[in-house]
Amino acid sequence: DKGGYKHFMAKEIAEQPTVIGEAISHYLTQDGTDIALPAEIDFTKIDRLTMVACGTAFYACMTAKYWFEQLAQLPVEIDVASEFRYRDPVITKDTAALFVSQSGETADTLAALRYCEGKAEQILSVVNVATSSIARESDVALPILAGTEIGVASTKAFTCQLTVLLILALKAAKDRGTIEDSRYQELLTELRALPGIMNHALTIEAVTEKISRKLAEARDILFLGRGVMYPLAHEGALKLKEISYIHAEAYASGELKHGPIALIDKKVPVVVLAPRDGLFDKTVSNMQEVMARNGKVLLISDSKGLMEGGEGTWEAIAMPDADPVLTPILYAIPAQLLAYHTAVSKGTDVDQPRNLAKSVTVE
Ligand code: F6R
Repeated sequence: DKGGYKHFMAKEIAEQPTVIGEAISHYLTQDGTDIALPAEIDFTKIDRLTMVACGTAFYACMTAKYWFEQLAQLPVEIDVASEFRYRDPVITKDTAALFVSQSGETADTLAALRYCEGKAEQILSVVNVATSSIARESDVALPILAGTEIGVASTKAFTCQLTVLLILALKAAKDRGTIEDSRYQELLTELRALPGIMNHALTIEAVTEKISRKLAEARDILFLGRGVMYPLAHEGALKLKEISYIHAEAYASGELKHGPIALIDKKVPVVVLAPRDGLFDKTVSNMQEVMARNGKVLLISDSKGLMEGGEGTWEAIAMPDADPVLTPILYAIPAQLLAYHTAVSKGTDVDQPRNLAKSVTVE
C-alpha cells in the first residue's frame, strides 16, 4: 500500500522522520539522556572497528567512519564486501567487525561476516530484517527499525542505518572517555530533535522537483562533498544513477583539481553538499573553481551558507540548521528527493529500476 503516494520510494522518503524517531526512542533511555544498548556492546574491549557492506549500506559505513574517528578516536577500516572477502584482510583479536545490511541477506556481506568468524573479538550487525541470515550469524544484531522497505532504491533504511551507527559511535565515545559529558548530552538533545528537523527538511520537496526537471536533461552530473558530506555525495550519485539512469559521479571536493575538473563545462550540473561546517570555506573555494569553468552549481546548504557562498550559483536548496555531526542524516533528504524527482521527470520505473534487485543474494 503506497498510502496515497505515487511510488513506494516517495512514501519511504516521507516516513523518515517517524522511523528515525522510533529508532532513537529504541536506543535511548526513556528520559532520553543516555544510550541503551545491549550489555555485550562494550567499546572498552576493542581497539579497532572494521565495517563492511555493499552499496548504500557501504556509504552509511563510510559516514560512520568519520563519527567513530572524530567522536571516539577509534581506528576504523571500511570496505565493500566484494573486495573485503577476497583480499585476505587482517583481522586482529582486538577488532569488532560490523556488517550493515538492510536485507541481511546480501551474499557478499554474509560471506565477509563468515570470514571474520573466529578472527574478530565480536561480530556486530546493523540490519533492517531482524530474522535475516546476517542478524542470526552475528554476536549482536541491532535492528534499525525502518519497517519494510519496498522501493529498490534504499532511502529510509539508509537514514535509519546512519542513526543507529551514530548512536553506536556516541556509545563508543562514552565508553572510551573521548567525549565531554556536556557534548554527549548536547548531541543526544540534537538527536532527539532530529525527527522534527527532518520534517522541516522535507519541505524542500517543491524546489527539488523544479530543479530536477532541469537535471533530467543532463547526461552527466557530479556530486561534491568534504568530510561527512563526501560519503553523502556518493550516496546522492548512486541514487540518481540507479533510478534515473543518468551518469553521476561523486568526488571529494579536494580531489577535483586532481582530474575530474576536466569534465566541467556548461552542460554538467555539479551538486555541492556543503552545510556551513568547519570545511565550508574549502568546499566553497572548490565550488568557485567549478563556476569559473562555467559549471552549473547546485549548492545545498543552510541559510548562512547560502548567504556566504551562494552568489553566482545555478540553483540552491536551503536546508534547516543542524549540528555538523547530524548533517549527513539530514542531507540525505535532498540527495533522495533530487534522484526521485529526476527519475519521475524522465518517466523511469522508480520503484523497480531496470537490472536491479532489492536483495542481492548472489555475488
Ligand atoms: C541502493 C541500494 C543498494 C543496497 C545494496 C546492499 O539504493 O539499495 O546499493 O544498498 O545492495 O543491500 P543490503 O543493505 O540489503 O545489504
